[in-house]
Amino acid sequence: MTTSPSNGAPTASAQASAAAAPAASTPTGSNDELAAAVARRRNFAIISHPDAGKTTLTEKLLLYGGAIQQAGAVKAKGEQRKVTSDWMELEKQRGISITSTVLQFDYSGRTLNLLDTPGHQDFSEDTYRTLAAADNAVMLEDAAKGLEPQTRKLFEVCRMRQIPIFTFINKMDRPGREPLDLLDEIEKELGLACWPVNWPIGGGDRFQGVIDRRTREVVLFERAQRGRQSLERRLPLDSPALAERVEADLLAQALEELELLDGAGEALDLAAVHAGTLSPVFFGSAMTNFGVRPFLDAFLDLAQAPTGRATREGVVDPLRPDFSGFVFKLQANMDPRHRDRIAFVRVCSGKFEKDISVRHARSGRNIRLSRPQKLFGQDREVVEEAYPGDVIGLNNPGMFAIGDTLYVGPKVEYEGIPCFTPELFAWLRNPNPSAFKSFRKGVNELREEGAVQVLYDTDLSKRDPILAAVGQLQLEVVQYRLENEYGVQTRLEPLEFSVARWVVGGWPALESVGRLFNCKTVRDAWDRPVLLFRNTWNLRQLQEDHPSLELSGVAPVVSGIEPIAL
Ligand code: G4P
Repeated sequence: MTTSPSNGAPTASAQASAAAAPAASTPTGSNDELAAAVARRRNFAIISHPDAGKTTLTEKLLLYGGAIQQAGAVKAKGEQRKVTSDWMELEKQRGISITSTVLQFDYSGRTLNLLDTPGHQDFSEDTYRTLAAADNAVMLEDAAKGLEPQTRKLFEVCRMRQIPIFTFINKMDRPGREPLDLLDEIEKELGLACWPVNWPIGGGDRFQGVIDRRTREVVLFERAQRGRQSLERRLPLDSPALAERVEADLLAQALEELELLDGAGEALDLAAVHAGTLSPVFFGSAMTNFGVRPFLDAFLDLAQAPTGRATREGVVDPLRPDFSGFVFKLQANMDPRHRDRIAFVRVCSGKFEKDISVRHARSGRNIRLSRPQKLFGQDREVVEEAYPGDVIGLNNPGMFAIGDTLYVGPKVEYEGIPCFTPELFAWLRNPNPSAFKSFRKGVNELREEGAVQVLYDTDLSKRDPILAAVGQLQLEVVQYRLENEYGVQTRLEPLEFSVARWVVGGWPALESVGRLFNCKTVRDAWDRPVLLFRNTWNLRQLQEDHPSLELSGVAPVVSGIEPIAL
């Protein structure tokens, strides 16, 4: 990363000012306090396809947590608030949510951190990166649709990290697919075993409620007024009153299916849940507020507390007394009045306190973190302390990159966050040569921020960058921001590629196989060879022709190497 003043070098006004004092080991508070704070915390992200009901479920969860007074506030707030960032202008125009932040709330003696991810169809790498900071994931499905493409992609990232997955099958008040069929799909297609925590009685117009498998009670479905918490009356399975409340044929069918599940014999094995191989499944209806509270209660029982994180030297325990954390997301210009850039840090170990001096692992510099922020949606406040599993926002005067580690005490360096395989590619043209300096600055800063991946032609005379993204929205955001933040209008020329592979052995490995057909060789920002293919068929053909050439869909993680400048 360059640190020239034009590239946003640290300034006197920067919040993360370089401190003279070394980042000495100064654990604060007792280890009991740390252990209690870690045990209290549960951190999770919701993975879903657009329209499955993520916004609705989030609202209801916050409602139970007392974080908002009335469901609907999450959306309403966004609509009422005057525009506070350039992003929000784009979000408003397109009716989408681009920024992902963290929502912290307390419920039942626990502190929950909900890492919010963009919900739009054209999701971006941000969504993937947020999962790098999550300890648990909630996979939200629409009961009528089952698994959908975006959910599958996000699931793969969770699997890569072995994150426990909790499945919430939503919209049970509407006609949907057979519950057994939905579970079968998850088990067969994702290879994820399921353990239903509750089982539905009927569905759609005839949805009567669920049987809580652990307590053998029926939770009755009574449509709550929108925005209110439902009563969720419970009756034991053997209660005579049940016959008056539940249609007999539907109850009989549900019990028969339950018997089948019990007969399969699988127990709710917590170790398997935490290893990400067994998913507790819940049926409910977020909109009518049914099943959200039981879900939250069971989630608190079953989810894992903040876990240890991998470094090259082994796993760091969250109870390590010294603070450490890593940057998983960068965001520029959240507040256009200050043209600020925020680095989101996941706290991994120790207690974080305002004004703490930390060492920046990649540069070796000491930094005093004098104005850390807690973010709630778009709101922020100065954070005095934070614990493992929490997320803090730091002003980023250009020194933080995605994957960077901050630590106190003995050196810790967390494994970086990989770049995800782009699927969309386009030349980014700058029609106005006099704006080249701003164009270059904008492209470099947006790449550093991780807004998009940038590739270059191997022919050095072709200096225009190739933008590489996982979603169309990323390309639009880059163009929009180049114009609004850097004053340069650009043109995108789509390239007809859809698959990218990094050559594992670098240029020597590529040269050793000679000329390649049906692919284009480009360089990434670290001058590593990348092959672009029109389709997976061309990729397979190349792999058959050159079995010795090792290719990877995920870019090798970089640390400490200067990227090439445009
Ligand atoms: P998303 O964030 O995952 O994209 O989904 P969102 O919560 O916005 O929900 C998408 C649509 O599905 C919304 O309807 C929402 O009301 C509806 N929905 C969510 N949960 C349930 C549920 O449990 N049952 C039923 N029947 N519908 C549900 P919309 O018409 O698009 O918006 P709105 O009219 O509610 O504002």
